[in-house]
Amino acid sequence: MERTILKPRQGPSIREFLRYYVLVLLRERRMSARNIRRTIKRRSRENRGIRPSGALLVDSGELRLVLRQLRTRNFIEPVEDKWRLTAQGRDELARCENQKEAQPDGKERAARKALKLMGEPAPAETVLDVGAGEGFLSFKVAGVGYHVLGIDSGRFDYSKDSVRSAMEKARSRGGKVEFRETSVADLARTDESFDYVVTSQAMHCMRDQKQCLEAIHCLLKPGGMFLCIDFLVGPAGFLRHGWHSLLAISREEWGEMLGECGFVEPSAHKTGDYLVVTARKPLSAQSPC
Ligand SMILES: C[S@@+](CC[C@H](N)C(=O)[O-])C[C@H]1O[C@@H](n2cnc3c(N)ncnc32)[C@H](O)[C@@H]1O
Repeated sequence: MERTILKPRQGPSIREFLRYYVLVLLRERRMSARNIRRTIKRRSRENRGIRPSGALLVDSGELRLVLRQLRTRNFIEPVEDKWRLTAQGRDELARCENQKEAQPDGKERAARKALKLMGEPAPAETVLDVGAGEGFLSFKVAGVGYHVLGIDSGRFDYSKDSVRSAMEKARSRGGKVEFRETSVADLARTDESFDYVVTSQAMHCMRDQKQCLEAIHCLLKPGGMFLCIDFLVGPAGFLRHGWHSLLAISREEWGEMLGECGFVEPSAHKTGDYLVVTARKPLSAQSPC
């Protein structure tokens, strides 16, 4: 049987999520810190369907810090060995939840930001869209003049249909976009390379995110740009996309992972419930790898 090692997660984005979600839990009932950690792990277990290590295990030091912060702001108070929500805590929770109504879904905005970051295409510049699905980002990028290859491994039941529908759309529209059913790891074993590798709402559902980033690094030409749109890890992402959003890589984790995979010049831009991340493959790197 496969043993899953859950790594406790920490950092400002996870803390921001906890400052919201601890209030949600304490609205239901009084809880100890230990119970809060266990409940979060249990409620996020649906994420194990995407990745065996997908459930959220919160670092205990991080939770202690958040509980201290919430107590200082009078949002929670201790009762024996448990915590309970105060009236101010209830008001704060209502304020957080109202934000969801106030903010539209940020995916279109994130795509506009992505196109701006990519800029005008030079002649014959090529783009690979990883986890293209029905081609949400592929068609937008082709629309501004890039030559695009969208790939999708067809990992989920729905995604085999998505790729077929993207292929049909590409045939009927003609132009600079084509689709292939393959995984990023398999494409990285060929000698193809691209000026840009983009991906929209797909990194969170990779079985192995690090392996995917290494493959993307391989597929980029030296000096090429990686661009990723995915859920924001934090209350805004959670309020709209639920536990799924916590499968995404947080701003801080991106910084670390991109460095480990050989990328330089990382940048991250928040657009509502999404995060747009970019980085480059160094000019001095080898291609193909
Ligand atoms: C949620 S969909 C996103 C589709 C589209 N990019 C969008 O923004 O609407 C994620 C897609 O990633 C694909 N995928 C998952 N792992 C992959 C891999 N290793 N290589 C290529 N595609 C993958 C899945 O099959 C799925 O269709």
